[in-house]
Amino acid sequence: MSSANEATPSRGTLPTHVAIIMDGNGRWAQTRGLRREEGHRHGVENVKRILEAARDIDLRYLTLYAFSVENWKRPRTEVDALMRLLDSFLKAQRDDLIEKQVRLRVVGRLDGLPGRVVKRIEETVAATRDFSRWTLSLALNYGSRTEILDAIRNYAKAVQTGEEDPASLDWSALQRYLYTGEMPDPDLVIRTSGEHRVSNFLLLQSAYAEYFFSEKYWPDFDKDAFHAAIDAYRNRQRRFGLTSAQLQSSP
Ligand code: FPP
Repeated sequence: MSSANEATPSRGTLPTHVAIIMDGNGRWAQTRGLRREEGHRHGVENVKRILEAARDIDLRYLTLYAFSVENWKRPRTEVDALMRLLDSFLKAQRDDLIEKQVRLRVVGRLDGLPGRVVKRIEETVAATRDFSRWTLSLALNYGSRTEILDAIRNYAKAVQTGEEDPASLDWSALQRYLYTGEMPDPDLVIRTSGEHRVSNFLLLQSAYAEYFFSEKYWPDFDKDAFHAAIDAYRNRQRRFGLTSAQLQSSP
């Protein structure tokens, strides 16, 4: 049995949706005397490993925080390197996503990303649109506050045209205006690199999520680390506001 299999979790319910804040590429590189861009390059290699780990457990939804609205403030050379890496990742993954029947989605503001990246995304999103079992979402040019503003703006437009009635507004109606649309909320949010922050990531969708913080930098967060996070999740009791006793007595 391989070490990945040994670490494959075996207890409580598996998560349906895992979202990951992939942090620590820069520090991973700096501790090795490398340029930050090298850290991102190794970060992309790790994305490929984690896609496999997600397949190992038949994970239905995986969302990766790849570029935030705040990341534009980084040095130009680093932003350019991230966009190049994103472009080549999408180019390399396209056929694999189609072959494995994984739907690609983007959560975030597509406008603002370089035209070649937008084109690449639109092409792969269209080619994988009809797959329904597995979804890979990339959070790109994403921030929760921007998402909320965009949702309210679009909802207000729908009110003006009479498509929506504020009197019947409830959470499920508003949820449809978020970038994540009909996707289920994340069950588990993982953040790597020892930072204990949520950094404007899926704030509303994570209202009842479990959080898992790893000390490992993202390029070192390997399959075993992923499976260990899933294992930790399966050992937690999610109460959604109820008491333990209520949960134990429910059928
Ligand atoms: C945080 O590390 C990471 C990012 C800002 C980008 C994450 C991007 C990747 C893993 C590569 C691109 C992804 C895809 C899907 C192609 P950091 O640079 O903030 O690290 P630091 O906190 O150590 O400086």
